Amino acid sequence: MKNNSEKSETNSTPLSGAVKLYNFDEIIDRKNTNAVKVDRCKALFGTENVIPMWVADMDFRTPDFILEAIKKRIEHPILGYSMTPQNFYPLLVNWILDHHKWEVKREWVSFLPGIVPGLSFAVQSLTNIEDEIIVQPPVYYPFFHVIENNKRKLVYNQLLESEGIFKFNFEDFENKITSKTKLFILCNPHNPGGRVWTKDELSKLADICQKHQITVVSDEIHADMVLPGKTPHTPFASVSEWAKENTVTFMAPSKVFNMPGLISSSYIIPNDNLRKKFADFLEASEMNTGNIFSYEATIACYEQGENWRLQMLEYVQGNIEFLRDYLKTNIPQIIPMIPEASFLVWLNCKSLGMETEELHKFFSLEAGIGLNKGTVFGPGGEYHLRLNVACPRTVLEKALKQLKSAVSGKLMLAVSSKR
Ligand SMILES: Cc1ncc(COP(=O)(O)O)c(C=O)c1O
Repeated sequence: MKNNSEKSETNSTPLSGAVKLYNFDEIIDRKNTNAVKVDRCKALFGTENVIPMWVADMDFRTPDFILEAIKKRIEHPILGYSMTPQNFYPLLVNWILDHHKWEVKREWVSFLPGIVPGLSFAVQSLTNIEDEIIVQPPVYYPFFHVIENNKRKLVYNQLLESEGIFKFNFEDFENKITSKTKLFILCNPHNPGGRVWTKDELSKLADICQKHQITVVSDEIHADMVLPGKTPHTPFASVSEWAKENTVTFMAPSKVFNMPGLISSSYIIPNDNLRKKFADFLEASEMNTGNIFSYEATIACYEQGENWRLQMLEYVQGNIEFLRDYLKTNIPQIIPMIPEASFLVWLNCKSLGMETEELHKFFSLEAGIGLNKGTVFGPGGEYHLRLNVACPRTVLEKALKQLKSAVSGKLMLAVSSKR
């Protein structure tokens, strides 16, 4: 684990040769910038006095090459309607081939104005009211909203927890399928558990979906955030010919390069008929173009982003290891699920002996840390919280010290009340 503290206060310093070192220790005040993570704390946690570690964006500076690309565009005084730049799709297709060994044809891919909107478009264009859609909780909660808000039926295929990680329950998955089941929304890699599903696991799911002719939507926003030394990401559509023909895949540079406010994502649909259904819906909704800044930023990521991405992942991995060791030594009542991808950690707090609501309040009001309540991720979220470690290590350390002191206070109170 590298210590970045010796690096400069600015975003980056050129190294000898061409490699730049980035500084992830820099503390940046996000207050009063309308940052959801920071400026919604009062409304959500009842106090502004929390270290915000909830919304899934990073407290690291958005990389210099993105900011430069946007500045460069601003140098031209007219921000008029723009076409998709010619190199946008070739860069994306090459990135996917290089990083995920999936050969995507240019015509399979188009711009998508955000993955959550994309999930809703998929539900609306590929299913009918009252159709059943399977999801695997605990899972990223907008999956539930896009189903229920569009008056489709939410069907849970609960994940199993074994050896400290989530696993699929294949038997239950198949048992949940009825003649009304039309779609399955997969989180690949998984949020909040950080699992990078293996090719074997995905192939088994694909076989069941094939048997029952269930279309799959695979949300792969975390694909480029597999942590050092972990199993590589497998695009669901790449596991079989059937999967290729029956999957809608969503990918984006927004999460990995910390620019989710720019809204830049893409859909990949190899099958002509499926793609036409989805694309026609987007066109009818006039939702099929991006904005000039997201195009420029995306190109910068795919052209220049690899070095930053690898350093960011190494830093995040360091934070995860720091968290794991700190909890083990100081707060063994809290058990983290160690992620294989991304910067979100699912914390099992059952041993603290509080119900989820009380637990959430305890973390915000007693420990001064703002986390996501486990139950918003659906069944299986009881007694859990989700922690975002994409922050300078000193911030993580401060949060953990506050937590240690709050937990000690709570335990002492419990002991003295028993006397
Ligand atoms: C699994 C998953 N999908 C989608 C999103 C958000 O996508 P977007 O900002 O493109 O709507 C997130 C953000 O945390 C996520 O974790």
